[in-house]
Amino acid sequence: MSPSVIVVGAGGHGVVVADALLAAGVPVLGFTDDDSHRHGQRVLGLPVLGGDEALAAPDAPGLQLANGIGGTGLARTARRGLRAELQRRLEAIGFRFCTVVHPAAIVSRHAEVGASAQLLAGSVVQPRARIGAGAIVNTRAIVEHDVMLGEFVHVAPGAVLCGGVSVGEQAHVGVGAVVRQGLRIGPGTMIGAGAAVVCDCDGGVWAGVPARQIGGAA
Ligand SMILES: CC(C)(COP(=O)(O)OP(=O)(O)OC[C@H]1O[C@@H](n2cnc3c(N)ncnc32)[C@H](O)[C@@H]1OP(=O)(O)O)[C@@H](O)C(=O)NCCC(=O)NCCS
Repeated sequence: MSPSVIVVGAGGHGVVVADALLAAGVPVLGFTDDDSHRHGQRVLGLPVLGGDEALAAPDAPGLQLANGIGGTGLARTARRGLRAELQRRLEAIGFRFCTVVHPAAIVSRHAEVGASAQLLAGSVVQPRARIGAGAIVNTRAIVEHDVMLGEFVHVAPGAVLCGGVSVGEQAHVGVGAVVRQGLRIGPGTMIGAGAAVVCDCDGGVWAGVPARQIGGAA
């Protein structure tokens, strides 16, 4: 039997995650959110139950969480890293986060999908790709054969990673970006919307066609 799931974060990414779970037939009990203005509201017809205090005990039978914090791809916001921090904090006290696979994701049986990864509507994950724990392959993103995604990487909607690309932990590949085969994107690197990546990118913010480093630290 499927576990029941509470989605942590009732914003845009949380809504997409809840929708994917519901489409996959997983019961969703509601959301939690740290914004008290949302408490008591309904989102997709589901209740916003409260903040962290509204989570049942970590060992509640059959309860799992889903990470509803996404990444806006804005380089200098305090929210960068929040997704991983929140999940690691709740896992440390015993909560478990579920993997989310939309029924319209195409996932090779020869791909490895890490715990709590999220493969959203229309995404494609090809053979021998490895998706790290907590990573997001967002709407219609393509992860080609032999790609390696580290933990909490975000491949934003419509991005394309060609064969053998490796992306380090917590990097962000922006919406609609394209990464040429075999390249390496270092941990925490930010790739801008629509970039064409034709060389290795190790840290910082990269954007444009072809992509060039445009700023300092991501
Ligand atoms: C690249 C990016 C991280 C830069 O963000 P930022 O540091 O806040 O940068 P700014 O908006 O201040 O822009 C700085 C400069 O870079 C340019 N720039 C910003 N994003 C760019 C992009 N994607 N491609 C080309 N140039 C870009 C701006 O025009 C500006 O140029 P200027 O200095 O000549 O005026 C951001 O614009 C971006 O593309 N993020 C990805 C968005 C995404 O993936 N969203 C998915 C949500 S699910």
